[in-house]
Amino acid sequence: MIGVGIIGSGQIALANHLPGFALCPDTKVVALCDSNPAVLEKASQQSGIKATYTGYQQLIARDDVNAVLIATPNFLHAPIALAAIAAGKHVMCEKPIAMNLPEALEMVRAAEKANVRNMTAFTYRFVPAMRYMEHLVRSGAIGQPYHFRAQRFQDWGHRNLGWRQVKKLAGTGELGDMLSHRIYYGHILIGPFKRLVADLRRFIDDRGGAPSDLDDWVAILAEFKGDVTGVLESTKLATGRGEGHRGQDVCEVNGSEGSIVYTTQRPLELRIGKKGDADVQTVPVPENFWVYPGSPRDPKAGDPLATFRYDQDFEFIDAIRHQRQCRPSFVDGARAQAVMDTAVQSAEQSKWLDVPVV
Ligand SMILES: NC(=O)c1ccc[n+]([C@@H]2O[C@H](COP(=O)([O-])OP(=O)(O)OC[C@H]3O[C@@H](n4cnc5c(N)ncnc54)[C@H](O)[C@@H]3O)[C@@H](O)[C@H]2O)c1
Repeated sequence: MIGVGIIGSGQIALANHLPGFALCPDTKVVALCDSNPAVLEKASQQSGIKATYTGYQQLIARDDVNAVLIATPNFLHAPIALAAIAAGKHVMCEKPIAMNLPEALEMVRAAEKANVRNMTAFTYRFVPAMRYMEHLVRSGAIGQPYHFRAQRFQDWGHRNLGWRQVKKLAGTGELGDMLSHRIYYGHILIGPFKRLVADLRRFIDDRGGAPSDLDDWVAILAEFKGDVTGVLESTKLATGRGEGHRGQDVCEVNGSEGSIVYTTQRPLELRIGKKGDADVQTVPVPENFWVYPGSPRDPKAGDPLATFRYDQDFEFIDAIRHQRQCRPSFVDGARAQAVMDTAVQSAEQSKWLDVPVV
């Protein structure tokens, strides 16, 4: 039996990870932590888990906790991960894994030294259509890649975003919150970013009566290793486009032999164009990609816009059981962090910068 402790029992822990761990064989969430007693009580009632803590050290100290999920605001990811690793626990950490690259690298080194499994929760890599797209690109379906493109456009208006609008709690705004997932797509579909130029803008200084000091919009123009171009844009201010599973959420690659277009809203299909075609055509994702290899999840049960998320908890537990590297690991989180840090510096300096190799 693998015992899991959840640290940060808010929105994403309840929506994604409690149902995800519930599907994993011989796995049990044995304890919950949240610094907010009201959130903790709600999570305890929803899950039936009675062992609850407002301090994460007490949860980490439990012998029956073999692994932890960290789903707190971003500034706490590194200190909690380092404490859990020091206690010999396996760690899955929500994205972005850290506030900056040095912190992320410290997490990587600590986890490797302690030989514990480590995972970054880049949830959207588990969408069946994204896994199929990765398979197609890697097996040469688009030939020599030319372009990578990612867009995430939502309408969050002027509403208050809590810790997400405060630099010392979140690190970055739209960049870390939304674009980090798409930066990781770039890594799995094309490879390492070589250099980039970026801009970040804040249009709303007051969100719901509280100051915001973080970006609402970010764009990155990039060059990958191998001379592939990257254009990435993400905004909270695409008025009228809605939020969550609504809004534009597209990733596209173009190469010498074809193009593939992915959207998270259509998790079981891609649009593909081959050399000579007049336009892209909708292609269903083959059924063998509908569920992550080995996952006990029934691919036909539930809403496919939600259920792929549970496969990431399976990946974490499966990696612990088989003592292998998680995909995505902390190294993948650190690579995305390197791109994010470079984007912030590029915007500050108004110039192209090389991305550090991780
Ligand atoms: N992978 C994804 O798709 C995805 C989606 C949403 C959020 N996230 C990430 O998950 C994390 C949490 O986001 P959320 O939307 O659930 O936020 P949230 O505010 O709903 O939950 C965070 C919880 O952490 C608790 N917390 C704060 N300080 C704490 C401490 N010292 N010890 C224990 N708990 C503490 C808060 O009380 C809160 O309940 C963030 O890093 C976010 O970027 C990832």
